[in-house]
Amino acid sequence: MLTIDKITNLCKQYGFIFQGSEIYGGLANTWDYGPLGSKMKNNIKDFWRKRFIQERANSYEIDSSILMHPKVWEASGHVSNFNDLLVDCKECKSRYRVDNLISEHDSSIKVDLMSNEEMLEYINKNKVECPKCHKSNFTDIRQFNLLFQTYRGVLNDSKNLVYLRPENAQGEYINYLNVQRTMRCKIPFGIGQIGKAFRNEITPGNFIFRTIEFEQMEYQTFCKKGNDEEIYEYFKEYAKDFFVDLGINKEKLRFKNHDKLAFYAKAACDIEYLFPFGWGEINGTHNRTDYDLNQHQKISGQNMEYLDSDNNEKYIPYVVESTIGVDRAFLTLLCDSYEEETLQDGTKREVLKLKPFISPYKVAVFPLVKKEHKDKAYELYELLSKYFSCTYDDTANIGKKYRRQDVIGTPLCITVDENTIKDNTVTIRDRDSMKQEVVNTNDLIQYIENKIKI
Ligand code: GAP
Repeated sequence: MLTIDKITNLCKQYGFIFQGSEIYGGLANTWDYGPLGSKMKNNIKDFWRKRFIQERANSYEIDSSILMHPKVWEASGHVSNFNDLLVDCKECKSRYRVDNLISEHDSSIKVDLMSNEEMLEYINKNKVECPKCHKSNFTDIRQFNLLFQTYRGVLNDSKNLVYLRPENAQGEYINYLNVQRTMRCKIPFGIGQIGKAFRNEITPGNFIFRTIEFEQMEYQTFCKKGNDEEIYEYFKEYAKDFFVDLGINKEKLRFKNHDKLAFYAKAACDIEYLFPFGWGEINGTHNRTDYDLNQHQKISGQNMEYLDSDNNEKYIPYVVESTIGVDRAFLTLLCDSYEEETLQDGTKREVLKLKPFISPYKVAVFPLVKKEHKDKAYELYELLSKYFSCTYDDTANIGKKYRRQDVIGTPLCITVDENTIKDNTVTIRDRDSMKQEVVNTNDLIQYIENKIKI
């Protein structure tokens, strides 16, 4: 059975992801992407750029600051509303999010719809136990703000307080008129960005599912009130198609409407994936109305209206947001593509059946016999590296070399042998079918391009 521990170990063993600050015993809920993880993460981000920016007319990518004026977060509501509700176990001092504690006790309870008093009453009445010490003796519920704070300049006082952004979206909102003016765009138009976000999450994370530092790919459509609901429905499906086209099994994806809405939303729907630990959110579509832009107008005193030059109409646009967590998309891909297979000879192989455009390496090049074919193989590796992400391996026997590439998801392995020297042909082995083909090196680049295209 696939477990998150198995995926975590695979990531660590093969260079996808390492524990954050490992040599110091780790920093909880932080992870570092290694050589293969960085490549794969970039492939996910490139695909998002293709789908959300390149293939959409009137779509623009920006790269705004992580540190913004603190008033941005007062206006957005995060300073006063971006809270988790927590309780501490009085016996063993463990700390829990109240919603998680109740859902784990009974997953059919709609925690979203309960007030603080109702949640506390539920915990006491049903003797909900601390998952660690199994006693039921909790403190009152407390609000805990998730914003990370830091200070600019030399004085650590409240005048110098700044926040690390907890979402990318505000960067798009405060720049929307800059983009609109410089790109001369007409509503509806979209602004997206990929970047880090930070949240002071206190609950354990299920590997990279919940971390304190993560990346988001967020896309905001600025539209006229009245068109917002249609655009909202459209982006729910658009995001689902994004995951399916990444290669995720449709059967393991579902929509989940929010019962209780975030402070900024008129409607919100998540896409959830069935992880080994249960269903988890990987995307959100939010109808944020004109809430954020109105707030920025109010707090900054700047006019945030859009001028429709066709009819001289002025209004604050509505915003529909589609947001995807890069790290959660990464974890989804690993869980969904991992397979253990028993081969005809009874041996086992682990394989990541990633779509080739997501795989860290597209091609691995090996010499059949190191002593005899090494130079030719390395020459080919250098040539192919000009076109594709490649790796070269002349250690171990050919079977072991295949196994290593299977488990990191490399779709094609090329073996250089006597025939390469004689008549310029190589043997190409396909990761999924394990079938081999002989191809002339003159046709190799075209052959690989055909195999790995999106
Ligand atoms: N701008 C709206 C927004 O930030 P969200 O649902 O709070 O909405 C969007 O977050 C996405 O960011 C989530 O669907 C998830 O994929 C990802 N995400 C949120 N918190 C995360 C965390 N602590 N660790 C990793 N990814 C997270």
